[in-house]
Amino acid sequence: MIGQGAGIAIIGSGSAAPAQVLDNNNLAQLVETSDEWIKTRTGIGKRHLANPLTSLSELSVQAAQKAIAMAGIAAFDLDLIILATSTPDDLFGSASKIQGLLGATKAVAFDLTAACSGFVFGLITASQFIRTGVYQNVLVIGADVLSRWVDWSDRGTCVLFGDGAGAVVCQATQEGDRLLGFEMFSDGSQNSSLNLAYQGQPKTLNEEVAIASGTYQPVTMNGKEVYRFAVEKVPEVIEKALYNANLVVEDVDWLILHQANQRIIDAVASRLKVPAHKVISNLAEYGNTSAASIPLALDEAIAQGKIKAGDTIAISGFGAGLTWGAAIFKWGK
Ligand code: ACO
Repeated sequence: MIGQGAGIAIIGSGSAAPAQVLDNNNLAQLVETSDEWIKTRTGIGKRHLANPLTSLSELSVQAAQKAIAMAGIAAFDLDLIILATSTPDDLFGSASKIQGLLGATKAVAFDLTAACSGFVFGLITASQFIRTGVYQNVLVIGADVLSRWVDWSDRGTCVLFGDGAGAVVCQATQEGDRLLGFEMFSDGSQNSSLNLAYQGQPKTLNEEVAIASGTYQPVTMNGKEVYRFAVEKVPEVIEKALYNANLVVEDVDWLILHQANQRIIDAVASRLKVPAHKVISNLAEYGNTSAASIPLALDEAIAQGKIKAGDTIAISGFGAGLTWGAAIFKWGK
């Protein structure tokens, strides 16, 4: 049992994406668009979409089981499960369902909603429980099935999103803290730039009492505003996290940004002067998988042997809220 003052090691990763794929040419048969437009403006070539029988919980469990196996622990060893998602199977939360499916009977589980920043915020939240000595083994999942909440007749948004899940296991260690620095921000004054909002109609229950009745409406986005925000704020937040870590950009081995748009990734890398060979991108295959995008890209890069134990990784998430954040960590035991 490691108590207060423990460090964090991020020792297992896993990911999952639905088998079903919709490429840009398939999309061009649904809305007025083209493979050329989508590739040039976003870098996206295809997206994996959950079929009607696939739940967010199942995708999350697949990713989590791989992360737990890589960490060399059992689900029973988990103390805490944080599910970062904006698209739970159940509005009351899906983390507990995942806890049950995993058989992580000792773990407390809750959802965390911060859109595309969710995984970064989740990882940082997990680290606080470890540093205070409260928990030893924490599973952080980033997962989204935005295909269920996109207007498939709106070419401005439907071309961007895909579904997926990624997970990491964080463990308390006495051999140095591998989470080297972080920063998080919110700016609710720009909330209307990107929404998946509840819109109810007034419903009168009696002469004095009225409530709203309805459901959530598909994603709406001011693409240009979000683009401008990301290109300005993401380099800043990474620099702040690096400063907190007492590091400089040259110390970073790998840059993994939320996979929203290749042009955003390129612009941020160029502002930070991170060379292209250090930048991880899998947008072409998956599109924007929201909270899943960073752990999915991390896991693929580990599986491909690009990221090795001891490498320094800068991750940054940004999106609805608006929210944004960055974390700098060393991968592995
Ligand atoms: N196919 C063809 N034409 C299109 C499409 C499409 N899919 N979508 C828009 N267009 C048209 C527009 O109608 C417009 O036509 P017009 O000039 O005749 O009016 C033209 O293409 C240019 O449209 P813009 O919106 O100006 O295109 P832009 O270059 O800004 O690219 C994009 C749009 C890709 C959405 C970009 O703004 C972007 O990536 N923004 C960031 C979005 C983002 O990252 N969102 C996710 C945040 S993460 C989260 O929290 C979920």
